[in-house]
Amino acid sequence: MMEELDVAGLEDLARKLAADVQPGDRFFLSGLLGAGKSTFARAFIRSLGVTGAIPSPTFIMDSVYSIVESGLEVHHMDLYRLQGSREEMLMLGFEDVLESSAVVLVEWPERMEDFKERRGCTISISNGDSPNSRRVQVEWNMAGY
Ligand SMILES: Nc1ncnc2c1ncn2[C@@H]1O[C@H](COP(=O)(O)OP(=O)(O)OP(=O)(O)O)[C@@H](O)[C@H]1O
Ligand SMILES: [Mg+2]
Repeated sequence: MMEELDVAGLEDLARKLAADVQPGDRFFLSGLLGAGKSTFARAFIRSLGVTGAIPSPTFIMDSVYSIVESGLEVHHMDLYRLQGSREEMLMLGFEDVLESSAVVLVEWPERMEDFKERRGCTISISNGDSPNSRRVQVEWNMAGY
């Protein structure tokens, strides 16, 4: 599915996907600097019931939200600063997070060397026809590990 979306449209898509979320689901947010990955993640996490600030995890690399009502744990990761080797992912504890029953949103997933082999939903965001629109593609890879 490929769509041309403004901010509101991208946030709607995030809320739609969040409505069907299951423990262990992973969302890989692919796109260049300023594409809208954090915008998507914020709308997604907000719609699951988080009311406080949802800062960009650029420096912290992994923000965790525990949602009392649903019992869901949500991780918002940003791998921009990583090389992405399996050793690095293991050392930082990110492999454990990705194997847990938490819901995980990952910005800069292509930093992981084995990104394409991983199970999850990839949201690819690229430039649209105007500065305020983005081309957005949603792809599920359920064959991965
Ligand atoms: N259609 C659109 N969808 C998403 N963001 C848009 C759109 N049009 C304009 N924008 C703007 O682009 C910016 C996207 O910023 P955002 O932090 O979400 O990007 P990012 O992909 O997370 O970048 P980074 O790689 O630095 O983390 C915001 O300022 C947002 O308002
Ligand atoms: Mg971001």
